[in-house]
Amino acid sequence: MATLFAILLFLIPIYILLKRRKRTSQRLPPGSLGLPLIGQSLGLLRAMRANTAEEWVKQRIRKYGPVSKLSLFGKPTVFIHGQAANKLVFTSDASTISSKQTESIRRILGERNIFELNAEDHKRVRNAIMLFLKPESLKQYVGKMDLEIRQHLEMHWDGKNQVTVLPLMKNLTFNITCSLLFGLEQGPRREEFVKHFQIMIEGMWAVPINLPFTRYNGSLKASKRVQNMIKELLRDKRAQLQQKTASPLEDLITCLLSIRNDDDEEALAELEMVHTIMVVMVAGHDTSSVLITFLLRALANEPAVYAAVLEEQEEIARSKLSGEFLTWGDLSKMKYTWRVAQETLRIIPPVFGGFRNALKDIEFAGFLIPKGWQIFWVTSMTHMDDSIFPEPSNFDPSRFERQASVPPYCYIPFGGGPRICPGYEFARIETLVAIHLMVTKFTWKLCADNHFSRDLVPVPSQGLPIEIMPRAQL
Ligand code: HEM
Ligand SMILES: *[C@@H]1O[C@H](CO)[C@@H](O)[C@H](O)[C@H]1NC(C)=O
Ligand SMILES: *[C@@H]1O[C@H](CO)[C@@H](O)[C@H](O)[C@H]1NC(C)=O
Ligand SMILES: *[C@@H]1O[C@H](CO)[C@@H](O)[C@H](O)[C@H]1NC(C)=O
Repeated sequence: MATLFAILLFLIPIYILLKRRKRTSQRLPPGSLGLPLIGQSLGLLRAMRANTAEEWVKQRIRKYGPVSKLSLFGKPTVFIHGQAANKLVFTSDASTISSKQTESIRRILGERNIFELNAEDHKRVRNAIMLFLKPESLKQYVGKMDLEIRQHLEMHWDGKNQVTVLPLMKNLTFNITCSLLFGLEQGPRREEFVKHFQIMIEGMWAVPINLPFTRYNGSLKASKRVQNMIKELLRDKRAQLQQKTASPLEDLITCLLSIRNDDDEEALAELEMVHTIMVVMVAGHDTSSVLITFLLRALANEPAVYAAVLEEQEEIARSKLSGEFLTWGDLSKMKYTWRVAQETLRIIPPVFGGFRNALKDIEFAGFLIPKGWQIFWVTSMTHMDDSIFPEPSNFDPSRFERQASVPPYCYIPFGGGPRICPGYEFARIETLVAIHLMVTKFTWKLCADNHFSRDLVPVPSQGLPIEIMPRAQL
């Protein structure tokens, strides 16, 4: 007993000494935390609107070096960038770094949404959505996607001289998400859903001041409405499954409801389903619509790229009967077109960056990221690094001919590691089918300049108005 006591007495000071040594060798990154609550959020948001957010970030790097501290959306934050930083963000284990969105996003999308879940909970919910979103399941929906997009073009493009691409693509991807993922067909219920949903997303990156008439407050109210509507939808689908008028793999919702645990109960809690459906709604439509929009813009700006895409798509069109839907096999022939999409995502990534939460003190590049702080990562930092992508401002889809030449954790439009975007395949199908139909049915010219700003996602000048001409059908 006495020896144990002696050993302890001896060890404790060493422990304290070591701990102190460790403390002093770790220093906080340079930078200022700014005003309480607001911090640098307004500066970043203003830069995003002016499309100078990348420049805003680069200025920080010039001023403070590669790692710096700041305060964003109400929390102290460390900004890190580069390949090693991305690797840390995307692959650290769940006890070191957890996914955590800003307070505003968490309160709007709900505390049990997949972005907030970690470790086992994350795995369970993620596996559930993957059951529907994996290529083997999505394969059978290519025809349905084709039908939706054809109907869209008939309704909004045929007979028009000019269209505005971004709002139309939002309309299209929203409709695709509603019908393919939620089994929510056109009608008053969908209209109601759209209305509240739009108000809800407006507050996602707003400063979290919850007073009447702030954007954030309106967004929270809309979120409550949307959640109630999803609960109703779940009730209806549950009843349809019981009466066998719906099948488990019919849409994402029936799929989530059909997953059982060992006691034959629903494996996902109702709140997890509601909040995860909200995330899929947000993550699924704003991003793909932006990709398709900027792809159309790139095709108008790059004649050689356009010619190669047209050739690939016409070859596929020639192999089909008129009116015949595209299939999974057709998509696998669209290799060049997908590389053009990849290059579009490199230069204009729809997701600007994101946040993580440090669960313990982390040392990175000689600096301390204190426990409880946010970590902020920015997509374009590696995308526009000329040591990784030579002449980064050149639009050159051939960079992706040899995927292996792109170093790991450097091309991250869909994130990376265990939380890499589960909607990748869905977005790929949607994009390729849309481009196939647009390129084979129309030609277009840009009617506005090439500027864009960021309002959470990139928005081209005036929403990208284009002049369209029907192509002579084959
Ligand atoms: C071009 C289209 C898309 C882009 C660029 C994109 C981008 C991303 C990125 C960067 C992340 C990771 C965020 C992080 O690590 O913090 C992510 C996650 C996610 N995305 Fe996508 N996405 C796209 C389409 C979709 C679609 C179509 C869906 C649904 C059908 C979807 C659903 C999700 C979900 C649920 C997550 C969270 C995954 C998790 O935390 O495990 N995304 N997406
Ligand atoms: C998309 O959905 C909206 C709202 O439900 C509907 O008014 C519109 O006609 C749909 N568009 C297409 C092309 O189906
Ligand atoms: C899609 O367009 C239709 C007709 O122009 C409109 O009624 C509907 O509200 C739009 N839906 C969305 C999601 O923007
Ligand atoms: C909006 O602000 C009012 C006044 O502060 C508050 O009572 C209400 O709860 C807020 N709404 C939401 C949804 O948080």
